[in-house]
Amino acid sequence: MPVTQSIVRCIEHTLEVRWQHRVFFSDLALASANLLLRDLLGQATNSVPTRVLFVVDKSLSEAQPALLPDIRAYCATHADRVTLACEPLVIDGGERVKNSFSNVSQVQSAIEACHIDQHSTVVAIGGGALLDMAGLAAATAHRGVRHIRMPTTTLSQADSGVGVKNGINAFGKKNFIGTFAPPFAVINDFQLLATLPPRDLRCGYAEAVKVACIRDAGFFADLERDAAALRAFEPGALRQVIYRCAELHMEHIASSGDPFELGSARPLDFGHWAAHKLEQLSDYRIRHGEAVAIGIGLDALYARNIGLLDAASAERVLRLLDKLGFDLFADELRHTDDLHQIRLIEGLSEFKEHLGGKMTITLLSEIGQGIEVHEMHPSAIIDGLRELENRYSTGRRRESLLTEKGIM
Ligand SMILES: NC(=O)c1ccc[n+]([C@@H]2O[C@H](COP(=O)([O-])OP(=O)(O)OC[C@H]3O[C@@H](n4cnc5c(N)ncnc54)[C@H](O)[C@@H]3O)[C@@H](O)[C@H]2O)c1
Ligand SMILES: [Zn+2]
Repeated sequence: MPVTQSIVRCIEHTLEVRWQHRVFFSDLALASANLLLRDLLGQATNSVPTRVLFVVDKSLSEAQPALLPDIRAYCATHADRVTLACEPLVIDGGERVKNSFSNVSQVQSAIEACHIDQHSTVVAIGGGALLDMAGLAAATAHRGVRHIRMPTTTLSQADSGVGVKNGINAFGKKNFIGTFAPPFAVINDFQLLATLPPRDLRCGYAEAVKVACIRDAGFFADLERDAAALRAFEPGALRQVIYRCAELHMEHIASSGDPFELGSARPLDFGHWAAHKLEQLSDYRIRHGEAVAIGIGLDALYARNIGLLDAASAERVLRLLDKLGFDLFADELRHTDDLHQIRLIEGLSEFKEHLGGKMTITLLSEIGQGIEVHEMHPSAIIDGLRELENRYSTGRRRESLLTEKGIM
């Protein structure tokens, strides 16, 4: 009998999973009188009291010595609803926590040892890196246990903590191992930012500029208006930026039609192809937010160089980043391989590989309007790099070192 079709039979169903993705804004969330966390922990579980494992960023707990006692006191006050499954697990924060699987194993071991099951909760408190690592552990233990995030950096309250992804770095690549797993809830407690050093407070602004550039010209104008207040970290301005930035990120996740990024496009990764490579080239000396600021500056110049973005708009983007206090050049941008090629450019192919499918990079056609392109020209990128170097490298040397070294 001739074979006319290779499928003999197929059973097909559409599976619908609905998530309520919630970010709460609160102050002093771990004060016993604040019932938000208690009520969240009590929801959607038939185990009363519910068991909780806290995973805490070490730098945060050192900077805020009252934090661990506050956690214990909170659970003791609400003992009828919440049981501290074991002592809070305190783990180093910062990018290094994502550079080894052993930290994920440590959290998974605690989940096992403390009998955290699908009616219990992991509460992670810390910067974006700690949250990414702990989120991966929670998403994979028992095929996923409930997980609440309490971000403690500007960047994580405005961007990474309110998203649906987690991950760690592997094989020298950012976020190579990770999952899409929306948290049960996110609590943004502004008081937790009190001890964050200026460098990390500033980092979140890069994601705010990014999302304003691609989605909201009005927010971009607000950032320009408030740049001096933001640079001085005035609380009112800082709160407003975090709120609007989180709102725009969540709107995108909820309305883009692709919350788990199954397509090739990642609009929220504007400026990130270069940023991820720069973080890696610097051996993570450069923070994510700092690298994103440079990536945005470079892509704005690139868009101008290829005639996509008008010169005045590119200038506004650079001026805003500069006013917010970002350094828009780093020595790692000069790194070359054995063939004297600029290593940053490798970031393009690595970014494509990470997304899969057709290369899709978000650039700007105007402020507030992202646009997808499917190729980038190395020569126009290098022109952008040279301009960043001439304008922003130490001492703002007129003669480009890149030119001196005969690289460009
Ligand atoms: N999952 C996502 O969707 C997503 C999105 C964007 C960025 N990210 C990731 O987020 C990470 C960057 O996060 P980040 O900018 O929050 O930095 P971070 O987590 O590296 O924290 C910076 C430093 O501040 C310390 N710290 C945190 N909170 C503190 C506080 N309140 N007081 C004192 N010290 C404190 C940390 O221990 C760390 O040393 C990167 O790994 C990036 O890839 C993830
Ligand atoms: Zn980012």
